[in-house]
Amino acid sequence: MIIYLTIFFCLLIPIFLFLRRSSKKRQLPPGSLGFPLIGQSLSLLRAMRTNTAEQWAQQRIRNYGAISKLTLFGKPTVFIGGQSGNKLIFSGDCAVVSNQQNESLRAILGERNLLELIGEDHKRVRNALVSFLKPECLKEYVGKMDEEIRSHIRMHWHCKQEVTVLPLMKTLTFNIVCSLLFGLEQGTRRERMIECFRVMISGVWSIPINLPFTRYNQSRRASRKIQEMLKELLDEKRVELEEKGGSSHQDLITCLLSIRNEENELVLSEKEIVHNIMLVLVAGFDTSSVLITFMMRNLANNPTVYAAVLQEQEEIARSKKCGELLNWEDLAKMKYTWRVALETLRLVAPIFGGFRKAMNDIQFGGYLIPKGWQIFWTSPVTHLDDTIFREPSKFDPDRFKNPASIPPYCFLGFGSGPRICPGNEFARVETLVTIHYLITQFTWKLLLDDHFIRDPMPTPTKGMPIKIWPRSQSFMAV
Ligand code: HEM
Repeated sequence: MIIYLTIFFCLLIPIFLFLRRSSKKRQLPPGSLGFPLIGQSLSLLRAMRTNTAEQWAQQRIRNYGAISKLTLFGKPTVFIGGQSGNKLIFSGDCAVVSNQQNESLRAILGERNLLELIGEDHKRVRNALVSFLKPECLKEYVGKMDEEIRSHIRMHWHCKQEVTVLPLMKTLTFNIVCSLLFGLEQGTRRERMIECFRVMISGVWSIPINLPFTRYNQSRRASRKIQEMLKELLDEKRVELEEKGGSSHQDLITCLLSIRNEENELVLSEKEIVHNIMLVLVAGFDTSSVLITFMMRNLANNPTVYAAVLQEQEEIARSKKCGELLNWEDLAKMKYTWRVALETLRLVAPIFGGFRKAMNDIQFGGYLIPKGWQIFWTSPVTHLDDTIFREPSKFDPDRFKNPASIPPYCFLGFGSGPRICPGNEFARVETLVTIHYLITQFTWKLLLDDHFIRDPMPTPTKGMPIKIWPRSQSFMAV
């Protein structure tokens, strides 16, 4: 009898262990889904508006670990943080995790924008965008960007004692995008577009409730107006290209209108061009303006870093003839300044996080991410992890001196993997050229405390007013 019982219990143990393992495999991550549809959306949006989104993300990790469930913007969601979670999201197997933005973003930008596309469609459209945004092509535009930035400084900075940085940087980066990417020169059309654009962008991270008074509804209406303007612009470019024989690389729109495959067919449909121009407008305008604004804030708050950037930029300025435009080789010398930009992105990433979709049931960290669920990643989880970046709250551009010292999937300023930001070189050029002219021509001091919120981009309260002195007089004024 004792022998039978012993055998019985011996058999029972592996069965029990197997059942425990398989039930854990089917176990959803910890956390509550909250109130249907709304879930934790309001608490995330509130955290963003009160500049506590980093703490919001870190608190979730403390409460539940690297993976937890919640409801965001109408969908059941799994929140993932940390290096291995980022690897799952960014390593690029779209049969497992595919891109999916929130409902609002899709409705506002259009369903054929790159963020919504996967597999071959994603490759085709991305390659088309990169054919204009790649360094070989951008090299040719440094001079044009230089002229746009100098003219902005002449118009908005010279002879001023105080300026408000964020709105000026938004004007500058919008004008750069309009001129270099859309070939849309200054005038009423640009003005109309920027008005609609401001309304449109305010709704990209909103709860998708389509009622006349909601942000989402206003944003969708503004998006329709911008799409109409873009279609008009496309028609003009097409005529210019076909009838007047314009250059296919004069701007991004003309470039996208001209790309053909081996069968001489257009690679992108008109809808794809419009939806992706909308994406580039959103992706390329707010992000760069925020980066430049926060770089100026960090330079004002860190005199040693400021002095090092000034020295680097003055050396370049001294090597140029009076009035000579910056070129690609000059940008390659701005190594320290770019490290300051990367450190700024680490501490205040313009893109706080984003969404993906589980294409199949996924096992991660001992839990199940069910097929079809939304996955939410955020950058501060690794950016502020002291096991990855020592003394994470310290502003130290030298962390980026040796890029190989930063573990993979930990710095997400421009994302990672096959969806890494295709505009990163474009952003590098506009940031470096802008900082070059600002730091060699002005000294500045913040006028208010430098508190900021996320809306959804980091936004300094009052837009960051500063006092400025022209450099030649700065020594007298300080
Ligand atoms: C400082 C400036 C910028 C920052 C910090 C930034 C950041 C990012 C990040 C983090 C992503 C990845 C999002 C994800 O994986 O879900 C991304 C994607 C993207 N960015 Fe940027 N970006 C910047 C400037 C630009 C510019 C100037 C352009 C266009 C000219 C641009 C176009 C795009 C596009 C089209 C994507 C989607 C790529 C894809 O899904 O394959 N970005 N950006």
